[in-house]
Amino acid sequence: MTSESPFPPEPSRASVISHPSGQDRSPEVLIGGQRWPVLTLSLSLLPPVPRIPLCHGLEPRGLCPVGPSRRGAEAGAGRGGPSAGGAGPGRAGAARNGGDGGMGWALLVVGLLMAVYTLLRYGLRGAPRPRARPDLRGRTAIVTGGSSGIGAAAALELARCGARVILATRSARRGEAAASRIRRETGNNQVQFMHLDLASLRSVRAFASTFLRQEPQLHLLINNAGVSAGGTTEDGFSLPFQVNHLGHFLLTQLLLERLRSCAPSRVVIVASSAHCAGRLRPESLGRPPSGLFSTFQDYCDSKLANVLHARELATREQGTQVTCYAVHPGFVNTSLFRHAPLWLKPLLLPLAWLLFLDASEGARVVLDCATQDGLEPLSGRYFTDCGPRLPWAAGRDDRLARALWEGSERLVGLGTAGGHQEGHREGRREGAAAPTGQ
Ligand SMILES: NC(=O)c1ccc[n+]([C@@H]2O[C@H](COP(=O)([O-])OP(=O)(O)OC[C@H]3O[C@@H](n4cnc5c(N)ncnc54)[C@H](OP(=O)(O)O)[C@@H]3O)[C@@H](O)[C@H]2O)c1
Repeated sequence: MTSESPFPPEPSRASVISHPSGQDRSPEVLIGGQRWPVLTLSLSLLPPVPRIPLCHGLEPRGLCPVGPSRRGAEAGAGRGGPSAGGAGPGRAGAARNGGDGGMGWALLVVGLLMAVYTLLRYGLRGAPRPRARPDLRGRTAIVTGGSSGIGAAAALELARCGARVILATRSARRGEAAASRIRRETGNNQVQFMHLDLASLRSVRAFASTFLRQEPQLHLLINNAGVSAGGTTEDGFSLPFQVNHLGHFLLTQLLLERLRSCAPSRVVIVASSAHCAGRLRPESLGRPPSGLFSTFQDYCDSKLANVLHARELATREQGTQVTCYAVHPGFVNTSLFRHAPLWLKPLLLPLAWLLFLDASEGARVVLDCATQDGLEPLSGRYFTDCGPRLPWAAGRDDRLARALWEGSERLVGLGTAGGHQEGHREGRREGAAAPTGQ
């Protein structure tokens, strides 16, 4: 080892000086009478890290950055002959040295990314605040789509508060599994699965009649189940429109008498801020839209229907003590978008993982609307986690809300608007004109 060391002494003996020639060069440190650029010194202070075996002796010339590392310099000098890479002693030390620096930088970048992630996920969004919930013993709730995502999280919390909870989902396997998990986690044995496929009006009717036969009470109806995928149902309607709105509309109507008899009772409809792009035309209600973004449009239309359904239901139930709320749960990392187009997934999945809420956070506003005292005067309103919010203009259109109601009645074969014919094909045949009230 030569007496002239290629790396600086310990910084405790150093003093920082600014560069005499101006501000456009990096500052330097005066150590033992010699000037060292701060950047060079910082590199030399990065912690020594083990080398990656793949690199050992294989550093291609000029690829590994060279920096003044004590270990690298010592190793290079100590070898005293041609290095494994054939580049000579100094070169070998510098290469190893560069590997250390590279690894240090990689760790630094990983650290920085983790810090940014933590800031975004927990700093900007705010830490979730646990909320006190009332005792719900003696109350019965239905949660549609309670087998996963927001519905499962809401059902878990309702069960924790002592409610009797019916998980109304289409898959017996997933429904039973969710019910038994919730029973196990909460110790509440009043959690049950009941089959409901909202994509089939027949199934909705079967569910309602089984429920009304078996359960004497209903205090909370959480219309949560939803799909984002396109397609057509056995009844001839757009799949998102039927699952997200029409099936729930029929379900609510069939259970309304029970809700009234158990009042005060509530209906919570899980809508979405996606209602902003919704366009509902009473004359083509339930028909899948066409065009490039038809799946997205279909979803937004169904969510606008959710907001308007809550609005009209509240108007119609005034004075009955059955109240109703539409909610936007936030952007939540669930399996809702598993049917998103392939090209969108590489964008959506990392975003969801990094920034979206988890299911229990998404369920908070649902639970608030289901259980918070004093919300009755706000029946029919649209809520987010921050409280009641104005929906987008179409979501405040009372004429459209009435038209949707009457159109929905006609499509499911209820009320007076369309006789008792059920299904889209029938609805289209005899109801091409806009419903009355427009
Ligand atoms: N995630 C978000 O960012 C977000 C944002 C705004 C609004 N929302 C709304 O939140 C609600 C819940 O969605 P999520 O995010 O929790 O998604 P999710 O995890 O996919 O849950 C949807 C639930 O709906 C059920 N479901 C689907 N089709 C059904 C059918 N035909 N009959 C009965 N149940 C059916 C699913 O059952 P399977 O397990 O059998 O599929 C599942 O339990 C939806 O209405 C959605 O529009 C979500």
